[in-house]
Amino acid sequence: MAKMKLYYSPASPYARKVRVVAIETGLEKKIDMVNVALTPIAPNADVDKHNPIGKIPALSVKGMDLFDSPVICEYLDSHHKGRKLFPRKGRERWMALRQQAMGDGLLDAALLVRYEGFLRPEDKRWSDWSKGQMKKIEGVLGQLEAEARALKGKLTIGTIAIACALGYLDFRFPSFDWRSRHPKLAKWFAAAGKTPSLKATVPPPG
Ligand code: BEZ
Repeated sequence: MAKMKLYYSPASPYARKVRVVAIETGLEKKIDMVNVALTPIAPNADVDKHNPIGKIPALSVKGMDLFDSPVICEYLDSHHKGRKLFPRKGRERWMALRQQAMGDGLLDAALLVRYEGFLRPEDKRWSDWSKGQMKKIEGVLGQLEAEARALKGKLTIGTIAIACALGYLDFRFPSFDWRSRHPKLAKWFAAAGKTPSLKATVPPPG
């Protein structure tokens, strides 16, 4: 298989999804990792060349630039012979994609709160906006708690996305105690977090 180039940052939870999939599919060694620094207000020229949206992750392969994380993950999953992380068909597939949407949706809201509180100048911050995003995060957590039994079993793209999303809450919102209100989800996450691919991609402090 052609060598691939992944533009990523160790802090990016979306890039973490791709890195977990790369490990789970055995494709990690075929990927050159390009660690880039960027924020929405400090874009990266190299990333802009490979993704018109200027975001990571972006994957260059065979003259194609692929983005965003669901597309890259599905591309990698289509290039190995092992157990598929994107179930091929039926209810199993739709449930995994739905879980991925919940994980990514939680992340989209968490990133907006992070940018509002970290990047936006203090005098321009809008607390109702952040509260609205936190409500979305609570909504997803509540749904995942109700569906926690369905998370058990081998990793899929759905549970990878959810684990990366919960990992981002721990990384950037360490005082947000989601565990006490979502004990079944917390129990699942504690067990899933021991998976080597998830352990190897935990964001470094900072
Ligand atoms: C972060 O530092 O929280 C971050 C970095 C890259 C992408 C998304 C989030």
